[in-house]
Amino acid sequence: MISIRTLAALTVGAAMMFDSWGYVMPHQDPTDVLILVNKTNRAPAVPMTLVKPDVTPTEEALGENIYMRPEAASALEALFDGAAEEGITLYATSGYRSYSTQKAIFDRKLEKMTEAQANKSVAKPGYSEHQTGLAMDVEGETTKGTGLTAAFGDSPEGIWLAENCYDYGFIIRYPQGKSGITGYVYEPWHIRYVGVEAAKEIQALDVTFEEYILLIRQERIEALEASQDGAGQAEEGEIGEGEQTDELES
Ligand code: DAL
Ligand code: ZN
Repeated sequence: MISIRTLAALTVGAAMMFDSWGYVMPHQDPTDVLILVNKTNRAPAVPMTLVKPDVTPTEEALGENIYMRPEAASALEALFDGAAEEGITLYATSGYRSYSTQKAIFDRKLEKMTEAQANKSVAKPGYSEHQTGLAMDVEGETTKGTGLTAAFGDSPEGIWLAENCYDYGFIIRYPQGKSGITGYVYEPWHIRYVGVEAAKEIQALDVTFEEYILLIRQERIEALEASQDGAGQAEEGEIGEGEQTDELES
Protein backbone atom coordinates (compact mmCIF):
# COMPACT_ATOMS: atom_id res chain seq x y z
CA MET A 1 0.00 0.00 0.00
CA ILE A 2 1.28 3.49 -0.78
CA SER A 3 1.86 5.44 2.42
CA ILE A 4 1.33 9.16 2.85
CA ARG A 5 5.10 9.44 3.40
CA THR A 6 5.82 7.81 0.04
CA LEU A 7 3.29 10.03 -1.67
CA ALA A 8 4.85 13.10 -0.12
CA ALA A 9 8.33 12.04 -1.22
CA LEU A 10 7.12 11.32 -4.74
CA THR A 11 5.29 14.63 -4.86
CA VAL A 12 8.38 16.57 -3.89
CA GLY A 13 10.57 14.56 -6.29
CA ALA A 14 8.23 15.01 -9.21
CA ALA A 15 7.68 18.67 -8.41
CA MET A 16 11.44 19.25 -8.63
CA MET A 17 11.60 17.33 -11.89
CA PHE A 18 8.77 19.27 -13.46
CA ASP A 19 10.05 22.57 -12.13
CA SER A 20 13.35 21.90 -13.85
CA TRP A 21 11.46 21.32 -17.10
CA GLY A 22 9.33 24.41 -16.56
CA TYR A 23 6.26 22.22 -16.38
CA VAL A 24 3.32 22.34 -14.00
CA MET A 25 1.23 19.24 -13.39
CA PRO A 26 -2.57 19.58 -13.21
CA HIS A 27 -2.58 18.64 -9.54
CA GLN A 28 -0.26 21.56 -8.78
CA ASP A 29 -2.21 24.12 -10.80
CA PRO A 30 -4.62 25.99 -8.49
CA THR A 31 -7.03 26.62 -11.35
CA ASP A 32 -7.19 22.98 -12.46
CA VAL A 33 -10.03 20.79 -11.15
CA LEU A 34 -7.42 18.10 -10.49
CA ILE A 35 -5.69 20.21 -7.83
CA LEU A 36 -4.50 17.87 -5.08
CA VAL A 37 -5.06 19.01 -1.50
CA ASN A 38 -4.25 16.68 1.39
CA LYS A 39 -2.12 16.54 4.52
CA THR A 40 1.05 17.17 2.52
CA ASN A 41 -0.33 19.47 -0.20
CA ARG A 42 -1.63 22.79 1.07
CA ALA A 43 -4.73 24.41 -0.44
CA PRO A 44 -3.51 27.19 -2.73
CA ALA A 45 -4.46 30.66 -1.56
CA VAL A 46 -5.75 32.08 -4.82
CA PRO A 47 -8.74 34.28 -5.62
CA MET A 48 -11.58 32.22 -7.03
CA THR A 49 -15.10 32.77 -8.23
CA LEU A 50 -17.67 31.08 -6.04
CA VAL A 51 -21.38 30.62 -6.69
CA LYS A 52 -24.23 29.14 -4.69
CA PRO A 53 -25.55 26.00 -6.41
CA ASP A 54 -29.31 25.85 -6.86
CA VAL A 55 -29.78 22.85 -4.56
CA THR A 56 -31.50 22.39 -1.20
CA PRO A 57 -29.23 23.08 1.77
CA THR A 58 -29.62 21.50 5.20
CA GLU A 59 -31.02 23.72 7.92
CA GLU A 60 -27.60 23.84 9.57
CA ALA A 61 -26.04 25.14 6.37
CA LEU A 62 -28.70 27.89 6.03
CA GLY A 63 -27.70 28.11 2.41
CA GLU A 64 -24.66 30.21 3.22
CA ASN A 65 -22.07 27.47 3.53
CA ILE A 66 -22.62 25.75 0.22
CA TYR A 67 -20.75 27.91 -2.26
CA MET A 68 -18.61 26.18 -4.90
CA ARG A 69 -16.58 26.98 -7.97
CA PRO A 70 -18.98 27.46 -10.92
CA GLU A 71 -18.12 24.22 -12.76
CA ALA A 72 -18.54 22.20 -9.55
CA ALA A 73 -21.79 24.00 -8.69
CA SER A 74 -23.35 23.16 -12.09
CA ALA A 75 -22.28 19.55 -11.75
CA LEU A 76 -23.75 19.40 -8.24
CA GLU A 77 -27.08 20.70 -9.53
CA ALA A 78 -27.10 17.98 -12.20
CA LEU A 79 -26.19 15.36 -9.59
CA PHE A 80 -29.00 16.40 -7.24
CA ASP A 81 -31.48 16.53 -10.14
CA GLY A 82 -30.38 13.07 -11.28
CA ALA A 83 -30.88 11.75 -7.76
CA ALA A 84 -34.33 13.35 -7.49
CA GLU A 85 -35.39 11.68 -10.75
CA GLU A 86 -34.70 8.35 -9.04
CA GLY A 87 -36.55 9.28 -5.85
CA ILE A 88 -33.39 10.14 -3.89
CA THR A 89 -33.39 13.41 -1.94
CA LEU A 90 -29.98 14.94 -1.24
CA TYR A 91 -29.08 18.05 0.75
CA ALA A 92 -25.93 20.14 0.58
CA THR A 93 -24.43 20.98 3.94
CA SER A 94 -20.86 22.25 3.57
CA GLY A 95 -19.09 23.48 0.46
CA TYR A 96 -16.42 26.16 0.26
CA ARG A 97 -14.69 27.01 3.54
CA SER A 98 -12.26 29.84 4.11
CA TYR A 99 -9.11 29.29 6.14
CA SER A 100 -10.78 30.86 9.17
CA THR A 101 -13.90 28.70 8.85
CA GLN A 102 -11.75 25.57 8.68
CA LYS A 103 -9.79 26.81 11.68
CA ALA A 104 -13.00 27.28 13.68
CA ILE A 105 -14.12 23.72 12.79
CA PHE A 106 -10.73 22.28 13.73
CA ASP A 107 -10.57 24.29 16.97
CA ARG A 108 -14.03 23.02 17.96
CA LYS A 109 -12.76 19.45 17.55
CA LEU A 110 -9.72 20.27 19.66
CA GLU A 111 -12.00 21.08 22.59
CA LYS A 112 -12.94 17.38 22.68
CA MET A 113 -9.80 15.51 21.60
CA THR A 114 -6.10 15.68 20.81
CA GLU A 115 -4.79 17.25 17.62
CA ALA A 116 -3.85 13.84 16.19
CA GLN A 117 -7.35 12.49 16.86
CA ALA A 118 -9.01 15.58 15.39
CA ASN A 119 -6.86 15.40 12.27
CA LYS A 120 -8.19 11.92 11.42
CA SER A 121 -11.50 13.43 10.38
CA VAL A 122 -10.93 17.19 10.06
CA ALA A 123 -8.20 18.85 8.05
CA LYS A 124 -6.00 21.44 9.68
CA PRO A 125 -6.67 24.97 8.43
CA GLY A 126 -4.83 25.46 5.15
CA TYR A 127 -5.08 21.79 4.24
CA SER A 128 -8.79 21.26 3.64
CA GLU A 129 -10.11 20.37 0.23
CA HIS A 130 -13.14 22.48 1.15
CA GLN A 131 -10.89 25.52 0.68
CA THR A 132 -10.72 24.77 -3.06
CA GLY A 133 -14.46 25.24 -3.65
CA LEU A 134 -14.53 21.79 -5.28
CA ALA A 135 -15.86 19.72 -2.35
CA MET A 136 -19.30 19.32 -0.83
CA ASP A 137 -20.59 17.43 2.20
CA VAL A 138 -23.92 15.84 1.38
CA GLU A 139 -26.75 14.57 3.54
CA GLY A 140 -29.73 12.42 2.59
CA GLU A 141 -33.39 12.46 3.55
CA THR A 142 -33.20 9.32 5.70
CA THR A 143 -30.22 10.40 7.83
CA LYS A 144 -30.77 14.17 7.75
CA GLY A 145 -30.01 15.84 11.07
CA THR A 146 -28.16 12.84 12.52
CA GLY A 147 -24.78 14.36 11.70
CA LEU A 148 -22.21 13.24 9.20
CA THR A 149 -21.50 9.64 10.11
CA ALA A 150 -20.42 6.43 8.36
CA ALA A 151 -24.07 5.33 8.52
CA PHE A 152 -24.74 7.63 5.57
CA GLY A 153 -22.78 5.17 3.42
CA ASP A 154 -25.38 2.46 4.12
CA SER A 155 -28.41 4.71 3.60
CA PRO A 156 -30.25 4.68 0.25
CA GLU A 157 -28.90 8.16 -0.49
CA GLY A 158 -25.31 7.21 0.40
CA ILE A 159 -25.50 4.07 -1.73
CA TRP A 160 -26.94 6.05 -4.66
CA LEU A 161 -24.26 8.71 -4.30
CA ALA A 162 -21.41 6.16 -4.26
CA GLU A 163 -22.79 4.46 -7.36
CA ASN A 164 -23.67 7.53 -9.40
CA CYS A 165 -21.55 10.54 -8.43
CA TYR A 166 -18.85 9.60 -10.97
CA ASP A 167 -21.21 10.14 -13.90
CA TYR A 168 -21.49 13.77 -12.80
CA GLY A 169 -17.76 14.34 -12.27
CA PHE A 170 -17.58 13.70 -8.52
CA ILE A 171 -15.69 11.10 -6.48
CA ILE A 172 -16.09 9.79 -2.94
CA ARG A 173 -12.86 11.38 -1.78
CA TYR A 174 -12.27 9.39 1.42
CA PRO A 175 -13.33 5.80 0.72
CA GLN A 176 -13.62 3.04 3.31
CA GLY A 177 -10.35 1.28 4.19
CA LYS A 178 -8.16 3.85 2.41
CA SER A 179 -7.21 6.15 5.28
CA GLY A 180 -3.59 4.92 4.99
CA ILE A 181 -3.51 6.67 1.60
CA THR A 182 -5.94 9.57 1.95
CA GLY A 183 -5.03 10.40 5.55
CA TYR A 184 -8.69 10.57 6.64
CA VAL A 185 -11.32 8.18 7.93
CA TYR A 186 -14.16 6.96 5.71
CA GLU A 187 -16.35 9.93 4.74
CA PRO A 188 -19.15 8.69 2.47
CA TRP A 189 -20.71 12.19 2.52
CA HIS A 190 -17.70 14.14 1.20
CA ILE A 191 -17.68 14.39 -2.58
CA ARG A 192 -15.04 16.13 -4.64
CA TYR A 193 -15.45 17.49 -8.16
CA VAL A 194 -12.69 16.36 -10.54
CA GLY A 195 -14.56 16.44 -13.88
CA VAL A 196 -16.37 13.58 -15.59
CA GLU A 197 -13.36 12.09 -17.40
CA ALA A 198 -11.19 11.80 -14.29
CA ALA A 199 -14.09 10.68 -12.10
CA LYS A 200 -14.95 7.83 -14.47
CA GLU A 201 -11.31 6.76 -14.69
CA ILE A 202 -11.02 6.79 -10.90
CA GLN A 203 -14.16 4.66 -10.66
CA ALA A 204 -12.96 2.21 -13.34
CA LEU A 205 -9.50 1.88 -11.79
CA ASP A 206 -10.96 1.72 -8.26
CA VAL A 207 -8.26 4.01 -6.89
CA THR A 208 -8.08 6.94 -4.52
CA PHE A 209 -7.44 10.44 -5.84
CA GLU A 210 -3.86 10.25 -4.51
CA GLU A 211 -3.22 7.05 -6.48
CA TYR A 212 -4.86 8.51 -9.58
CA ILE A 213 -2.61 11.57 -9.45
CA LEU A 214 0.42 9.28 -9.16
CA LEU A 215 -0.74 7.35 -12.22
CA ILE A 216 -1.32 10.37 -14.41
CA ARG A 217 1.97 11.89 -13.27
CA GLN A 218 3.77 8.68 -14.19
CA GLU A 219 2.13 8.77 -17.61
CA ARG A 220 3.26 12.37 -18.09
CA ILE A 221 6.80 11.54 -17.00
CA GLU A 222 6.95 8.64 -19.45
CA ALA A 223 5.52 10.76 -22.24
CA LEU A 224 8.00 13.55 -21.55
CA GLU A 225 10.90 11.11 -21.36
CA ALA A 226 9.79 9.48 -24.60
CA SER A 227 9.56 12.85 -26.32
CA GLN A 228 13.03 13.79 -25.01
CA ASP A 229 14.42 10.43 -26.19
CA GLY A 230 12.73 11.02 -29.52
CA ALA A 231 14.29 14.48 -29.75
CA GLY A 232 17.68 13.02 -28.78
CA GLN A 233 17.48 10.35 -31.41
CA ALA A 234 16.43 12.88 -34.02
CA GLU A 235 19.47 14.99 -33.13
CA GLU A 236 21.73 11.96 -33.35
CA GLY A 237 20.21 11.15 -36.71
CA GLU A 238 20.97 14.68 -37.87
CA ILE A 239 24.61 14.40 -36.81
CA GLY A 240 25.04 11.96 -39.65
CA GLU A 241 28.08 9.92 -40.60
CA GLY A 242 31.34 8.83 -39.13
CA GLU A 243 33.62 10.72 -36.81
CA GLN A 244 31.04 12.81 -34.97
CA THR A 245 29.25 9.72 -33.67
CA ASP A 246 32.55 8.39 -32.37
CA GLU A 247 33.16 11.67 -30.59
CA LEU A 248 29.81 11.41 -28.84
CA GLU A 249 30.73 7.98 -27.54
CA SER A 250 34.11 8.99 -26.15
N1 DAL B 1 -13.25 16.35 6.62
C1 DAL B 1 -12.30 16.77 5.64
C2 DAL B 1 -11.08 15.89 5.65
C3 DAL B 1 -11.90 18.21 5.85
O1 DAL B 1 -11.94 18.68 6.98
O2 DAL B 1 -11.53 18.85 4.87
ZN1 ZN C 1 -16.10 17.39 3.67
